Amino acid sequence: MHPACEHLAELPFPLLFTDELMETKETIEIPSATRTDRHTPPGSPQVEVFAYDDQITRMFVLATVLWGFIGMTVGALIALQLPFWQANLGEYFSFGRLRPLHTNAVIFAFAGNAIFAAVYYSTQRLCKARMFSDRMSRIHFWGWQAIILSAAITLPLGFTTSKEYAELEWPIDVAIAVVWIIFAVNFFGTLARRRERHMYVALWFYIATIITIAVLHVGNSLALPVSMLKSYSIYAGVQDALIQWWYGHNAVAFFLTTPFLGLMYYFMPKAAERPVFSYRLSIIHFWSLTFIYIWAGPHHLQYTAVPEWAATLGMIFSVMLWMPSWGGMINGLFTLRGTWHKLRDDVVLKMFAVGITFYGMATFEGPMLSVKSVNALGHYTDWIIGHVHAGALGWNGFMSFGMIYWLLPRLWHTELWSKKLANAHFWIGTIGMLLYVLAMYSSGITQGLMWRAFDEAGRLMYPDFMETVLRIKPMYWVRLIGGSMYLFGVVLLMFNMYKTIRSAPKHLPDPTVAAPARVEVRPHAAPALA
Ligand code: HEM
Ligand code: HEM
Repeated sequence: MHPACEHLAELPFPLLFTDELMETKETIEIPSATRTDRHTPPGSPQVEVFAYDDQITRMFVLATVLWGFIGMTVGALIALQLPFWQANLGEYFSFGRLRPLHTNAVIFAFAGNAIFAAVYYSTQRLCKARMFSDRMSRIHFWGWQAIILSAAITLPLGFTTSKEYAELEWPIDVAIAVVWIIFAVNFFGTLARRRERHMYVALWFYIATIITIAVLHVGNSLALPVSMLKSYSIYAGVQDALIQWWYGHNAVAFFLTTPFLGLMYYFMPKAAERPVFSYRLSIIHFWSLTFIYIWAGPHHLQYTAVPEWAATLGMIFSVMLWMPSWGGMINGLFTLRGTWHKLRDDVVLKMFAVGITFYGMATFEGPMLSVKSVNALGHYTDWIIGHVHAGALGWNGFMSFGMIYWLLPRLWHTELWSKKLANAHFWIGTIGMLLYVLAMYSSGITQGLMWRAFDEAGRLMYPDFMETVLRIKPMYWVRLIGGSMYLFGVVLLMFNMYKTIRSAPKHLPDPTVAAPARVEVRPHAAPALA
């Protein structure tokens, strides 16, 4: 506590000061009847009473689950279309049209809305301030949903730039940039108005996300429009490929990784009711991760026309990335020290523990896959799909679910309807994703080995592509079973959520809190004259 604020302990309501999650204390919410700052002695910092905007978090949580269900249902459909071609339902619902719909829906709609829910909830608490502008929060929410809806319409119709994870045509790209900037202004405005001087590490991860995604999106989407729904990238050939994978890889880094690390650093200590294992490590983790990630993109382009040095650079930085990634994983898992016994009953902690473990697996596998000799085996095969879904289902999915189960009772002021159902979600989801990734590892390595097998005379042993397809078909069915189980887990979450919200009070007031106004500490100010 700042010495100037010590007298505030005498206030008529409890008021805790935080170095927040480093100590896991939080400003106490106060009933409106006791709201006062009358007792503040003269000359001391003003106590300000204000309310957090929880409605916006509720909206993002609902959107996360809804889009998660839609995106994963499309995932299950395309998983069926691969072993069973008859499920390609005409031009608009064929694999080629629906695959980008799946990736856009799960990444930008499911993971995206989860990120925003985390950012809006935790930023307000960490800054001890309401969001800068309620109106901007609403524009952000509705703008983002409109963008997703336009993706869901244009992609099946075949409008695409054909750049992976950046398929949307230019008017939608412009809308994304505008909405993102509104989000950025709202976020940085909140930081500027914060009452807590210290900026907890989660906020740094959000800052990295917001700035980098803006740069990546604008940089990669630069294009010359020729009509309302057709444009051509300003890059060509190998430059286009390099820019695309600088974007693609860093979308993984700054959309699927850094915001989820921010989420982890906020919600994990909250759920475990323990401070983060090492705050120092979290800072090292932040700077090393953000610095190294940005260089690793060319690992997606091994053995292509990109210059050898660029591919090698991508490989070296990817291998270096292993360390900060595991630093984060260790910091997350060790935050649970002393609370492992809670894992038996607490579904939130269980989800987080499995989520972080999958993060550890994906970030070990990624650096390994970027090594040229390993990439020669894995590239173009289902191994990559296995890697992707270990990260996506395990890390992004389970961290989001853990957060949602933690938030539900707090946002809707009631108990979670069924812990048993949440537990069932955990187990079905875990077994489902294990089936998914193991099936993909098996089919990926089978593909890789068959494609490079030669006979004694130096001829390809399996020159007919169909031979590998038939060999891996059973694995596609296993993936479908695993994916459907994971999807069923989401249905359980939806039902639990529906029941929980039904039992919630009709009126959900914004939580009112009190915190001292920010005191500017100027270390170099001249000492007062005696
Ligand atoms: C029910 C769960 C899911 C199922 C059944 C599923 C299924 C699939 C299928 C069949 C593909 C196409 C694979 C191919 O082209 O061979 C795919 C691709 C992809 N999915 Fe999923 N998915 C699910 C959940 C998710 C989630 C939650 C995320 C992200 C948060 C995700 C991200 C991706 C990405 C990024 C790709 C493209 C991979 C690449 O090009 O390497 N998926 N998914
Ligand atoms: C240290 C961290 C990581 C490294 C170095 C890394 C590296 C790689 C490499 C080498 C590939 C294969 C490129 C290819 O041959 O096509 C890849 C693909 C991919 N990884 Fe990772 N990965 C990491 C973590 C993650 C995580 C945590 C996620 C998800 C949350 C993820 C999502 C993806 C996706 C979506 C692709 C497929 C891209 C495509 O469509 O081709 N990665 N990664």
